[in-house]
Amino acid sequence: SAAEIMSGKPIARDINLRVAAEISRMKAAIGRLPGLAVVLVGYREDSHAYVHMKLKACNEVGIETSFVQLPQDCTQDRLIDVVSSFNSNPSVHGIIVQLPLPQHLDEETIINFVSPEKDVDGFHPLNMGNLALRGREPLFIPCTPKACIELLLRYRVEIIGKNAVVIGRSKIAGLSTSFLLQRHHATVSTLHSFTNNPEQITRRADIVVSDVGIPNIVGCDWLMPGAVVVDMGTNSVKDPNSPRGFRTTGDVCYEEAIKVVSAITPVPGGVGPVVISMLLCNTLDSAKRAYG
Ligand code: GUN
Repeated sequence: SAAEIMSGKPIARDINLRVAAEISRMKAAIGRLPGLAVVLVGYREDSHAYVHMKLKACNEVGIETSFVQLPQDCTQDRLIDVVSSFNSNPSVHGIIVQLPLPQHLDEETIINFVSPEKDVDGFHPLNMGNLALRGREPLFIPCTPKACIELLLRYRVEIIGKNAVVIGRSKIAGLSTSFLLQRHHATVSTLHSFTNNPEQITRRADIVVSDVGIPNIVGCDWLMPGAVVVDMGTNSVKDPNSPRGFRTTGDVCYEEAIKVVSAITPVPGGVGPVVISMLLCNTLDSAKRAYG
């Protein structure tokens, strides 16, 4: 039987409508709107594109945005000053520093300066630590893992007791998704660049989540028939037939995978739009906490 295509677009649309409605009620009740600060360092084209999508989505639902763009050669102290001023600004409820940062900046140090109460990316060690520990509640869960679970739940994929394999261990996606799948009672294996024979492990998985950054690395020989696949890859590949000479593709060989899996997220249009929705949700939640 044909694979179900788990589009993120209708889910994102639904969530964003609910967020917008709640924000207009907040505005009517207390005269305030949620605020998100976005900091972007340098000139990476992909980062600019993501930030543009985040700001646009905020605009559409009524979240106020502050956008600070810093040059590639920005000093660590300058960046920390910008973050600190957002920390102390009461109309800012969420702060994101778009990653990756230029080589000379220390990501962990910068993330440590983001107030855990405004850490809508969920990357602060306090929030990541509480996500990893059973029985603790982080203030924010990172947007990509939240989007993954949202997709699985909305498409009625059972998670409890299933064998889940996450390929990749970045805090943005892979590692935090392993933590969140465990919180949802999956049995989780986290694979990475030192894993021997990864395909032998993925072939036993009910749920395969890919956060690798290499196009087509996951082929149909990596997948159990009937598996559910969440493709978090956003890889830019040359394509002379695309308007800009490039197109975005996932980690999974989609054309192969759809022949064997029971469900799969497309790229683009799968996880991506829901990730943005989760950022809106985290920002709204933060404003709700700030205003009681
Ligand atoms: N780079 C890729 N994904 C993300 C994300 O969710 N947040 C931030 N800050 N940077 C990213």
